[in-house]
Amino acid sequence: KQHVEINDLDHLTIGGIDVTYLAEKYGTPLFVYDVEQIRANAKAFVNGFKELNIPAQVAYASKAFSSIAMLQVAKQEGLSLDVVSQGELYTAIQADFPMDKVHMHGNNKSVAELEMAIEHNIGCIVIDNFHEIQLLEELLQKHDRSIHALLRVTPGIEAHTHDYILTGNEDSKFGFDLANGQAEEAFKQIKRNSRIQLKGLHCHIGSQIFETDGFVMAIRRLFETLANWHERYGYQADVLNLGGGFGIRYTKEDEPLALESYVEVLVKEITEQAHYYKLNSPEIWIEPGRAIVGNTAITLYTVGSKKEIPNVRNYIAIDGGMTDNIRPALYQAKYDAILANKAAREKTYQTAVAGKCCESGDMLLWDLLLPEVEPGDILAVFSTGAYGYSMSSHYNRFPKAAVVFVENGHDKLVMRRESYQDLIRNDLSYE
Ligand code: LLP
Repeated sequence: KQHVEINDLDHLTIGGIDVTYLAEKYGTPLFVYDVEQIRANAKAFVNGFKELNIPAQVAYASKAFSSIAMLQVAKQEGLSLDVVSQGELYTAIQADFPMDKVHMHGNNKSVAELEMAIEHNIGCIVIDNFHEIQLLEELLQKHDRSIHALLRVTPGIEAHTHDYILTGNEDSKFGFDLANGQAEEAFKQIKRNSRIQLKGLHCHIGSQIFETDGFVMAIRRLFETLANWHERYGYQADVLNLGGGFGIRYTKEDEPLALESYVEVLVKEITEQAHYYKLNSPEIWIEPGRAIVGNTAITLYTVGSKKEIPNVRNYIAIDGGMTDNIRPALYQAKYDAILANKAAREKTYQTAVAGKCCESGDMLLWDLLLPEVEPGDILAVFSTGAYGYSMSSHYNRFPKAAVVFVENGHDKLVMRRESYQDLIRNDLSYE
């Protein structure tokens, strides 16, 4: 929470700006991003590699939060970009993101997506499955183009994280298995095609990971494979992409490493493995999403109704919920929050915080200690910068929230609040 403070009025500030002012000016629910913190996170990764003199690409996983303004900041910080859909690629194009630094993921890339990627000559396609190899071959032939690619493999490593967001184990919809020879079969197919330049391997072992063992184990598995392919096919990888997953602090129970420390561990292990197997040291690519934006935003809500069930629980309800933050309902994710207009007041009121969707599971927090709460108070939920807005929905026909960036004492609206007209924009009459 380094980007927030409490001012003389007892109000929470972010990037030096009183959040009650922002709530009044833009309405709630409101996402407020501290751009300085986004830059600091980006720099921690980028400089981490620079200081160790290691060629690297830090690709911002835009699924965490994609908007034109956000991608402009990512561009300014020299990040590359990970997109997983035509929509994310379209946003990158609109943000004028350098296409040679865009990497495309996806376990079911469509013809349209691949064609868009080829047409814009993006930096790299991360090949996920056999169907995609075939499509790519056809499309590259048809358009007489070639492309750089990585092969996404599942190294069979389980990160210590929530089941729903495990992607690196063998029983996964993503990538080619290393264990059963599918990765090698894919490798051989790709190597036969001169239009696909295979730059190296990719793996992603999960998300919100605090320990580095998983990364180390994954790197060892990748190098066993590379050593094997070097011996049998003379292959040397130019790039090793370790994906994202670097954990952040949501509550005080979370103890993430400094971002630089993750970099150090990756660099050390990759350098050692390359040395051990007498292989060239590959460029290191990573794809952090959450670690770039997660701790940079807060969500502001206005408190409304209250329900007190004696000897059971108190509920306060806010003017948003699972439509702007589905993570508590979907992953039992924990957050911390305070009353932004009573930020230094003594906390005596124990309560749960409910959303306003018509669904019992629409809860933001189950247990929070606050000062005495009244309707109209502003609740600030911390660390909502990743997978909040980007996973938001129109359930119950709630318009999507607005997003504001603050930097150098200035606030700037970067995503308008949706209007009711926006909501019915695609509705057609049946009368
Ligand atoms: N690279 C790949 C291939 C990924 O699948 C992901 C996330 C990332 C990078 C970025 O991971 P990060 O650094 O943000 O952990 N909606 C879930 C997280 C899903 C992550 C999916 N893949 C959540 O809200 O926790």
